[in-house]
Amino acid sequence: MEYKNNILELIGNTPLIKLNKINRGLKPQIFAKLESANPGGSVKDRIGYAMIVDAEKRGVLKPGGTIIEATSGNTGIGLALTAAIKDYKCVFVCTEKVSAEKINYLKALGAEVIVVPNTYEPDHPEYYVNVARRIHEGTPNSIFAYQYGNPSNPEMHYRTTGPEIWKQTGGKITHFVSSIGTGGTISGTARFLKEQNPNIQVLGADPLGSIFKHYKETGEIIKGSPYLVEGIGQDCLPANVHFQYIDKIINISDKESFTAARRLTKEEGIFCGGSTGTIVHVALEIAKDLTENDLIVFIVCDTGERYLSKVHNNEWLRDNRMLDAEIKVLRDICDAKKRKGIEEIIYVHDDILVKDAMKIMNEKGFSYIPVLNEFLRPVGSLRESRVIAKILDDQSLLHIPVKEIMEDSFLVLDAKSGITEVRRALKEAHAILVSDFGRIIDIITRYDLIDFE
Ligand SMILES: Cc1ncc(COP(=O)(O)O)c(C=O)c1O
Repeated sequence: MEYKNNILELIGNTPLIKLNKINRGLKPQIFAKLESANPGGSVKDRIGYAMIVDAEKRGVLKPGGTIIEATSGNTGIGLALTAAIKDYKCVFVCTEKVSAEKINYLKALGAEVIVVPNTYEPDHPEYYVNVARRIHEGTPNSIFAYQYGNPSNPEMHYRTTGPEIWKQTGGKITHFVSSIGTGGTISGTARFLKEQNPNIQVLGADPLGSIFKHYKETGEIIKGSPYLVEGIGQDCLPANVHFQYIDKIINISDKESFTAARRLTKEEGIFCGGSTGTIVHVALEIAKDLTENDLIVFIVCDTGERYLSKVHNNEWLRDNRMLDAEIKVLRDICDAKKRKGIEEIIYVHDDILVKDAMKIMNEKGFSYIPVLNEFLRPVGSLRESRVIAKILDDQSLLHIPVKEIMEDSFLVLDAKSGITEVRRALKEAHAILVSDFGRIIDIITRYDLIDFE
């Protein structure tokens, strides 16, 4: 028979996968260390196991005990996996930024999950790490795993991830690229690799808004700013980031990270999340200046399944302005307006009184409005400035139907009209009407075009 004694025996010894497509035209070989192949789907299975086993060895974790952690999800999953096999309870504190997939996964593994806002500063009592620490202090027979300062975290990568990469590349690795969250992966792996060959270059991939790059370059701790990639970068300095093993830190935008993650998935079949995108973007950037004698290894932190509602969801990307606009025809602009919750077409009937039409325009804040007949066909338009000018001359106009003073109808374009035609039309007119099978479905203004292109 051939089998594993339990799921934990599958942790580590993850494969190295050569890139073949997204690195076209670049000279060095680039390899992905597939940490998503761990049984819990992320690099954090290694440290979840290590932090529990080390706590047992130190005698601080006793049978039936509770494991408490502040986590962006993956460490929680790693801890919960080992806890499930060893019958420990788990309580995790996550911020609202953590994807629903990760939170549901934690619950499926039997953990209790507390979600807190992600707006608190590290010195605030409600900051997620401080909440976790407080729960630990009030829970008998519990440990606070504290991946940010727990030496078992980098130590596990020193003992396993580093040696695996060294062996798998036959000692030929010249560049190692990883992200920095707690710092465990990069610090432990880099320490081992540099002990084998001090010339190996270690690159840290850091989201724009995180404080690591600035600290590495100036020794100054600045205030971070928000970004969307999960699990990496910080607004404070965890003890497990050992900067002496990191040669350079490179800042990457959310959009670059998500685009790279989707390319790695689509073109190489390596299904990954945003933090892996940050890393692979750096790997491809540094490769531009390297030769065929160089060999890059980068970490695939976790699986894309964890981000199906985010990085791999066009709606979410569009809402967060992370997707290049895909405006090809007029209907795309109407759809984009609808997604932003902008009301459908507002119009007036041709037999409504001028005073009532003016009231509607005033309430909606419109300076022009289409006039439709009883069959909803466009028959004219009203421009606020023109109507007001006429009323100033003759107040009685307020009490006549709009059809008697309206101007020509806005140009009507079919929803299938190409964007070049739309642009041309809006050079001439302030607004156009959109028709779909002869029915007017929307009005598009110059501002709409600028907003959605
Ligand atoms: C999705 C994801 N990627 C990468 C990392 C970074 O790994 P490390 O904490 O070892 O620096 C984390 C850490 O929480 C993570 O959650």
